[in-house]
Amino acid sequence: MTSRGIVSLFQQVDELKMSNTLNSTRRSLSKLFRSEASSTAQTQAVEFDFPDSHKATVPSPFPFQIDHDNILSKLGAKHQPSKRHHNYLIYYWKHFRDIRLQVERVLEIGVQTDRCLKMWEEFFPNATILGADIDPNCKAFEGGRRKVMIGDQGDRQFCQDLVTEAGGAFDIIIDDGSHMVEHQIKSFNWLFPSLTEHGIYVIEDTGGAVGDFDLKTVSSLRKLVDNIMYWPEGFRTEDWAYLSEFDDAASWADHNIIGASFYRWIAFVMRGNNPGDNEFLHKK
Ligand SMILES: C[S@@+](CC[C@H](N)C(=O)[O-])C[C@H]1O[C@@H](n2cnc3c(N)ncnc32)[C@H](O)[C@@H]1O
Repeated sequence: MTSRGIVSLFQQVDELKMSNTLNSTRRSLSKLFRSEASSTAQTQAVEFDFPDSHKATVPSPFPFQIDHDNILSKLGAKHQPSKRHHNYLIYYWKHFRDIRLQVERVLEIGVQTDRCLKMWEEFFPNATILGADIDPNCKAFEGGRRKVMIGDQGDRQFCQDLVTEAGGAFDIIIDDGSHMVEHQIKSFNWLFPSLTEHGIYVIEDTGGAVGDFDLKTVSSLRKLVDNIMYWPEGFRTEDWAYLSEFDDAASWADHNIIGASFYRWIAFVMRGNNPGDNEFLHKK
């Protein structure tokens, strides 16, 4: 009911010279009115409009990229994969630097040359790097810890075969294949569950850079925020520290997606235990 509707009901109640019963009705209406007002206030609060944006930018005491001289940036300069020219390597460094030595299985959809596979092979010294490409010529880029499978990422069976070929779950999956929205979403659906417990899924080249002007892939990914923020119906806010396990109503995605990071044209989605990875919650 709108605020105006509620106010009109108040007036009707007043005109009827309130009895005790009407008093209680009035209290209920007050409650309804407060909740309507608060929800309106909340809606207004989420409209970003940056009223102070006219102010001059204050320079930061640190640069945009702090760690220029890192291992991945050096390997990028050596192997020259196409993702270097999109400036994606700084984001990869942010997300991969702490897990570099532990990673065992990497899948990159979209191979094209041996550049990227060789860069990952050197960057992850203990991993098998599996490349997937629709172009049969890419088979030639196998060698060392690099394997290549030929097929279409839009084919579910092929995606299942990749998991079988890898011989176990992937720690990292990078989609740099067809860049078609349908493929990006389908491959994500089919392959995200085949990540290890804390694996990371990356989708390169989203949005206008690949003709997705309506941001279809990004809009789908944005919805994952609802999974990350899942809250069981009726669970009391003040008991937040005791919410260490979700109820049966929670979906697989609610349980298994813990974060997402968006940068221009590239998105990272993190698998994990939601909310169990928070070690400070009171466990049952
Ligand atoms: C941008 S290139 C990959 C570049 C590489 N990842 C790098 O960083 O150097 C895209 C590749 O995706 C492949 N590709 C296109 N459609 C595909 C599909 N449906 N399934 C799998 N690979 C596909 C193309 O053959 C091409 O080699």
